[in-house]
Amino acid sequence: MRSFTLPGDKSISHRALIFAAVSTGRARIRGVLPSADVASTAEALTAMGVAVPVLDQTEMVISGVGRRGLSAPQVDLDCGNSGTTARLLAGLLAGAGLPARLIGDASLSARPMRRVAEPLRAMGADVTTSAAGGLPIALGSSALHSLTWRSEVPSAQVKSALLLAGLVAEVRVAVDEPVPTRDHTERMLRAAGVDVHLEGTQVVLEPADRIALDTIEIPGDCSSSAFLIGLALLGGSPALALRDIGVNPGRTGAIDALRRMGASIRFESERGYGEEPVATIIAEPSALRGITIGGAEIPALIDELPLLACVAARAEGETRVSGAGELRVKESDRIRAVVENLRAVGAEAEELADGFVVRGSDRPLRGTVRTHGDHRIAMAFGVLGALPGSAITLDAPSCVRVSWPTFWDTIADATRF
Ligand code: S3P
Repeated sequence: MRSFTLPGDKSISHRALIFAAVSTGRARIRGVLPSADVASTAEALTAMGVAVPVLDQTEMVISGVGRRGLSAPQVDLDCGNSGTTARLLAGLLAGAGLPARLIGDASLSARPMRRVAEPLRAMGADVTTSAAGGLPIALGSSALHSLTWRSEVPSAQVKSALLLAGLVAEVRVAVDEPVPTRDHTERMLRAAGVDVHLEGTQVVLEPADRIALDTIEIPGDCSSSAFLIGLALLGGSPALALRDIGVNPGRTGAIDALRRMGASIRFESERGYGEEPVATIIAEPSALRGITIGGAEIPALIDELPLLACVAARAEGETRVSGAGELRVKESDRIRAVVENLRAVGAEAEELADGFVVRGSDRPLRGTVRTHGDHRIAMAFGVLGALPGSAITLDAPSCVRVSWPTFWDTIADATRF
């Protein structure tokens, strides 16, 4: 059995930097992910007057400026490829009433931003998107009032933006979620002494006196672990032990789905990093069969669907995913990208409006993958490419830098029997 420690969780790293920035006093952050997406958040906070250390190490101390201590950025805030940066900062800036403009790369600029702009406007914010409903987002200064909002799409980013706006503006916010989404924001706010609770399907934030974070320990990224789990299940590596991975139930849907496919995956050494559960995940080569995935389980595995599609291409029988239309507005149209690339390497797959069907086989997979600059497409096909008998090349392997800059080194290491 080989053992790996993975880089810190991306979702939690963004939140750690943002909440530390608006807290009172110093926060020590351990295990922050040094990746391009998190750097986008760090640089934006720096432009708002927060001293964020350079992201070249995994431990840092941030001296919070408090909720009223942020300053209006004098430059456009470039969110790069990061949807979490754009949407959470829209909420932060609206709450603080700071004029700003959020921009991003071509992929991020095409992603939907009305879903965050509309509820912020309903809180009284002066916020506009481009005519197409994307970036740039322009924010003016205005005072916010309390909000009760029912999200049309399940989105942890939108929920988090609204909770942040309420936190900074010191108003009550209630977000009614059609389906629960990852709750890292709620857990971190609770750790900081803020009253965030559930009322039925509503996530409610009460105005807080102060927010104080001491030490934030960030677990290994559950979404990143899925690629190594997939590699081990398909026999591309020996059994793997992945240490201290975040196993928040809002993130482990792919593990549940893989177990339904027949995967041998178990958790050991379960404990807590503050409010977040972590475990060592053990994955062993397994015989897999196709399954059906859909409905309320989608938010907890949305980021892992490209990997699940690639794993399904080596399972026995058919895997059908539906109810995952959100995949079309991620870093790329992941339904199209997954299906086109599976076909390009010789697997059988077809598109559905809101998902895909993959038929597994054991024929060798060969061909060239177009990543569309999407890190998760690159990593999912990187797993297939690492299997014995595969001959897969990628057009832009370096796009993994947004979430896991050392991915290719780790894959090379894990496949060395
Ligand atoms: C994220 C939430 C999810 C996820 C994204 C990160 C977050 O997006 O797909 O990779 O950090 O809150 P949505 O909230 O848009 O579904």
